[in-house]
Amino acid sequence: MRGKKLYINTIGCQMNVYDSGKMADMLYRANYQLTDAVSDADLVIVNTCAIREKAVQKVYSFLGRIKKLKQKNPGLRLVVAGCVAQQQGRAIASRFPQVDIVLGTHAVQQLPDLIQELEKHPRQIIATEMTDFIDEPGPADFSCAGLSASRDGIISDFVTIMRGCDNFCTYCVVPYVRGREISRQPQAIIAEIESLVQAGIREITLLGQNVNSYGIKENLTSFPDLLAMVNAVTGLERIRFVTSHPKDLSDALIEAFGTLDKLCNHIHLPVQSGSSRILKKMNRKYTRESYLEKIEKLRAVSPDIAITSDFIVGFPGETDQDFQETMDLIDRVGFDSVFAFEYSDRPEAPASRFKDKISPEIKHERLQALFKRQKEITRRLHEALVGRRFSVLIEGASKNQIKHTADADAVELTGRTSENRIVNFKAPADWGIDIDRRKGETKGVKIEAAYSNSFWGVVADRPEMR
Ligand code: 5AD
Ligand code: SF4
Repeated sequence: MRGKKLYINTIGCQMNVYDSGKMADMLYRANYQLTDAVSDADLVIVNTCAIREKAVQKVYSFLGRIKKLKQKNPGLRLVVAGCVAQQQGRAIASRFPQVDIVLGTHAVQQLPDLIQELEKHPRQIIATEMTDFIDEPGPADFSCAGLSASRDGIISDFVTIMRGCDNFCTYCVVPYVRGREISRQPQAIIAEIESLVQAGIREITLLGQNVNSYGIKENLTSFPDLLAMVNAVTGLERIRFVTSHPKDLSDALIEAFGTLDKLCNHIHLPVQSGSSRILKKMNRKYTRESYLEKIEKLRAVSPDIAITSDFIVGFPGETDQDFQETMDLIDRVGFDSVFAFEYSDRPEAPASRFKDKISPEIKHERLQALFKRQKEITRRLHEALVGRRFSVLIEGASKNQIKHTADADAVELTGRTSENRIVNFKAPADWGIDIDRRKGETKGVKIEAAYSNSFWGVVADRPEMR
């Protein structure tokens, strides 16, 4: 029986999801069991995001909730981790006395020790020192018991290959809260992936703010070579990576989509704006034209590659003309899907001091126009896939049980194609009801219907797409 209950609230990007997973695994070894109910918890961790003002507001309101819980249960411990912890350090501890530990972005590995320290001498602990080395977990942490029981059963996981960012896009807080770019040793990455594969993981997403510059500073393996090493891990089925900066997307990396059998047929390539003038003000170091050239090269290597992107609308000084160039780029590329955000001032980032801020109304209008345009494009792209057959990596039972079939006994499964498209399908009758066994298997599925965020299909033997 596990001693204590741990609740983790993860806000923000995959980097935080990875760090939260690591914290859960470390604390599992210290006798903590994850719970979904915050009211049951002995220890609450909020892993925070500072990328936009809205994300920071979410953190404050969560801290308010925990304050009330603590009044009822004074033994409850609260850790604030992630980017807001790093950004605000001692200030967050002073403003929120309910906080026990402020865990900066470079201090994740210290968490079990800090909790022990807290138990011995209750007080507010601030761990926000930044380091210029990566604190690698010891070999014992990569044992087969690597995944905590609550994470058991997942088939896809993240592995950080580098930390920080040196790009200083003018709107972005990341270089200030995650520090300078630093890459992990390839051997440590491969060891972690091998241990995850042994624990049942079939798909790995390699994480970094700018994976294309992996290893360059430290003169390690190049990113395409690292991908080839990961591709050689026995038992691993699929490899993904995020995020790729368009300025550093090399020909060698583009070629990898044609040569590495496990590398998924999808790239997330955030463009942010379709106007070269705005891209310059954002310090992105590429133009609209060079971005479009890279898309052409990718499609020359892999014609069916799914391309997704990020956009910021209403960057300071963005005119109607600039925004129209963004809309035009969206039409030209035909992204599978996009994430788009209204520009948000970050006090550390230089753009917060730029003139010609765009009004909230115009930002909102532009965002809605962008979403509307993209929705039409996604619909057209998705409809064109009806009748095609794809390899689907099965993730488990579908959330919308029996939405598509009249058959009351039917079990519906969900999985993803290599292009990262979600496909739900009915399990063939001879699979029985113990569908958990099917998790992690790859099956051919023929698409029968397209929706805005997913597809419906039937099992078909020979997939035409990997
Ligand atoms: N305002 C709005 N969106 C932002 N992003 C990063 N910083 C900001 C900001 N200050 C978006 C970018 C990035 C994604 C992770 O978040 O589109 O690619
Ligand atoms: Fe932020 Fe730019 Fe670095 Fe991405 S590349 S994390 S947007 S500074």
